[in-house]
Amino acid sequence: MLDRIKRSFNGLRSLVRSLRPLPTDFERFQLLVFTSTMTPIDRHVALYMATRKDAIFAVSYAHWRTKRINKILELYGMDWFKGKRVLELGSALSDIGAFFADLGAEVICLEGRQETVNFARLKHRNVPRLQIEQCDLEGDFSHYGKFDLIIHFGLLYHIKNVDEHMARCFAMTDSMIMETVVCDSQDPHKMLLVPEPKAVLEQSLHGMGSRPSPFYVERLGTEAGFKFDRHFTADLNFEDRFIYDWPHQNDDSHGDWQKRRFWRFDRA
Ligand SMILES: C[S@@+](CC[C@H](N)C(=O)[O-])C[C@H]1O[C@@H](n2cnc3c(N)ncnc32)[C@H](O)[C@@H]1O
Repeated sequence: MLDRIKRSFNGLRSLVRSLRPLPTDFERFQLLVFTSTMTPIDRHVALYMATRKDAIFAVSYAHWRTKRINKILELYGMDWFKGKRVLELGSALSDIGAFFADLGAEVICLEGRQETVNFARLKHRNVPRLQIEQCDLEGDFSHYGKFDLIIHFGLLYHIKNVDEHMARCFAMTDSMIMETVVCDSQDPHKMLLVPEPKAVLEQSLHGMGSRPSPFYVERLGTEAGFKFDRHFTADLNFEDRFIYDWPHQNDDSHGDWQKRRFWRFDRA
């Protein structure tokens, strides 16, 4: 009896040993990528996207990007972009610029980190009318010329010299769409400076960001001769991470990444 139990136990053990574990999701993905007929660049792009942990590669960014692209389409219309000159600032992977280039615009994307620029160029190498350049937006970028539209998303709070930077933007266009984190204040002269880790791929190039109040941003626009429409609406929110329709508490808090505002500026 004992022998029978031992034999069945050993049989069961060798059966379990002979079973190989199923590959993990990543191993399956890798297998698929390596056995597909992708080009070597496609393969590199796919593996890079899958292995990076930085926020710009995260699904939350994809959701957020989609909502903001939809808002631009709602405000300007699908047909507006054909033949227009568009500048995207702080473009990271340049997905937003690439979208509007695909719609027919001539797009220049400026991004401060060379590694990100290299990857964005590979990712969008087949998109026509798209130019992606490395440029430090704390400095002068006015030599890129005039544009029908500037897309200014997720950048202002990584810039220290906000007044100079905004003045340059307003001098280069008659229309700008902007969203940023702000501090919770209704004071049009309130701006906090916030240290940021330079090593984090999506943060300030120089280690110092800012949190102007929403009224600060609007004042700069008005002083430059622009009128603005506020889009502080729930359709732009992404879960509890990126919020646009929050009420002011006037506590001067720096907004984390959460308290955001969205405007369309047009020359008055
Ligand atoms: C939060 S990400 C936003 C990406 C994209 N615009 C979006 O909204 O989805 C900020 C980007 O700005 C870039 N950036 C930060 N400081 C910069 C600077 N001084 N000049 C140019 N780019 C800068 C970062 O490298 C990063 O790619």
